[in-house]
Amino acid sequence: MPLGNVNLTPQLVQAVRDAVDIVSIASDHTRLRKAGRRYSGLCPIHKEKTPSFSVDPAAGLFYCFGCGAGGDAIKLHMLTTGDDFPAAIEALAMRYGIPLPSHSEARFAGGKPEQDLEGALQAAAAFFADQLEKSAFAREYLERRRIPPELIERFGLGYAPEGFQNLTRALHPRIPQADLEAAGLIAKSEQRGDWYDRFRHRLMFPIHNGSGRLVGFGGRTLGDDKAKYVNTNETDRFHKGLLLYGLHLAKREIRETSRAVLVEGYFDVIGTVACGLEGAVAGMGTALTPEQAKLLSRYAEEVVVAYDGDSAGENAFRRALPLLLSDGLGVRRARFPGSHDPDSLRLEQGEEAVRAAIGAAEDAVVAELDRAIPAGTSREPQLQAKAAAAVGELLRPIPDAVLRYSYARIAADRLGIPVEMLSRRMGGGGSRPEVARPPAPAPQPGTGDEGGPRLVRSLEEQVLGVLLQREEDSASLPARDQLPPPEVFLDTECRNIYEAFCALYAEAGSPPDAQGVRPRLGEGQGIVARFAKIMVEGSFASGRIGLLESLDKLVDRWRRQRIKELHGEINEAQRRGDHALRDRLADEKTRLSRSLHRGSRPGANEGLV
Ligand code: UTP
Ligand code: MN
Repeated sequence: MPLGNVNLTPQLVQAVRDAVDIVSIASDHTRLRKAGRRYSGLCPIHKEKTPSFSVDPAAGLFYCFGCGAGGDAIKLHMLTTGDDFPAAIEALAMRYGIPLPSHSEARFAGGKPEQDLEGALQAAAAFFADQLEKSAFAREYLERRRIPPELIERFGLGYAPEGFQNLTRALHPRIPQADLEAAGLIAKSEQRGDWYDRFRHRLMFPIHNGSGRLVGFGGRTLGDDKAKYVNTNETDRFHKGLLLYGLHLAKREIRETSRAVLVEGYFDVIGTVACGLEGAVAGMGTALTPEQAKLLSRYAEEVVVAYDGDSAGENAFRRALPLLLSDGLGVRRARFPGSHDPDSLRLEQGEEAVRAAIGAAEDAVVAELDRAIPAGTSREPQLQAKAAAAVGELLRPIPDAVLRYSYARIAADRLGIPVEMLSRRMGGGGSRPEVARPPAPAPQPGTGDEGGPRLVRSLEEQVLGVLLQREEDSASLPARDQLPPPEVFLDTECRNIYEAFCALYAEAGSPPDAQGVRPRLGEGQGIVARFAKIMVEGSFASGRIGLLESLDKLVDRWRRQRIKELHGEINEAQRRGDHALRDRLADEKTRLSRSLHRGSRPGANEGLV
């Protein structure tokens, strides 16, 4: 599921691959130093004090000897930002100015002229920010609400001035009215037929999707307008049910801590961040949607729900809980006194009070169990039955069977019934199959600085390193028909890389280089990381290994192993009385032992080719 509305076409993915510069991506997150053809620095993925992270710009790959992460620029972006693949493509496309076809834009292409929502939204955001600078009134409002200047900047806050045509006048004709309308910024009056600004005398919150793409605005009135907040209407880009306000700024923190803070309003996000809690996001003022819960579960393992302390907040929490649980999220609930929300509590009682409320958040399921099973229930059969039904309802969305069971045990204790009776009510658990969460970039405490076992390069990796990184002395390569067959590589990933090398060699008639081999490998995480390791490590090899000798070693190792296997197979053939087979195998074994001792190149007679 793309974060926004982007159609992940192969062309788009390829365009991103072609455009990305791995050095600049890496440099966003760590300081790189040039070392020969490569760059090295502290790993941006795990914490370390001595550099074990290396980037090969020519191959477009990175590898870290400390944590073993490796891959291409897209992978690096994913690991450093927490984006998944679609989100990464979207973010990188934006970064490199690659046009993003949205589903609906693509659908209308050819019919309706394509509208430049991006241009209109960006221009409007700049206009609003500029107006905020110029409006003492709006700035005083923010001061009263104690929003620090750096957060005004970070969240890109702005001001839509009073009056009906400020935006149109400021941006037209540079930005066509049709684009402003399509972006949800202006509308046409029905009676008079002229354009008017949709946001007037409002504090403006730019809204981005998870990739950081500007998609719309929320505006809070600074006057006595009945609608306290107005959002961009649904446009090609703005789908409020799919958005979480603040996610693009919070996602890194969320990924790192596995924890998100979910609040109700825009100001709550900013206020929570102002309290030093960076992982804050908000829904869009409507009930949390399943899509928003899923989006959150891509980055977080646990969500602290920090909704308003009033009954509306209570109801919103109750509706959100099953959605969050069904996406496998742990849920905690922070409580705010009276009808406070995180931001109003900050203003009244200070930042520490907010941190304390969020820090004290309790396991939401346990709290709900307490509520569903009042003291004394276990002595009242009618209440027991009713409470058991409520408990079943509450626990059913939890996909993890162990977790569901653990909660059920607590409930069963309180209810005074055997846990098995609850199991039936809970059903199978989860509205979706249990799937393994894609591994978060795993920091490896303690192992970072020592380098770890991955520094050990296998002979297979060394051989591939030399094959792929020849500095234009292909004369030293064995002729194509002298290269041993892929079987001599016992490691599957190495074998696949070698196979791709050989296949290309055969097709082109000359030995391919790393850039040629890379696309043949597909996008499997394991193989790409391994390829990156081989490429990057090559430059660290002290003395270069002799290629021919090393290939011979691999061949001999294969022969020895095959001889062992044959030994077993011969015995087996003998046992079954299959003498023909036994003799054939014995012949093969003899040939292999002979070439092993002669140390000759493999030939067709060894069954290697
Ligand atoms: P609240 O009314 O709780 O806003 O609505 P708030 O964050 O406390 O605002 P302040 O502090 O009074 O300025 C929470 C969220 O609900 C949506 C907005 O997203 C808002 O941030 N909302 C609220 C609307 O969309 N429309 C409204 O009229 C009110
Ligand atoms: Mn509120």
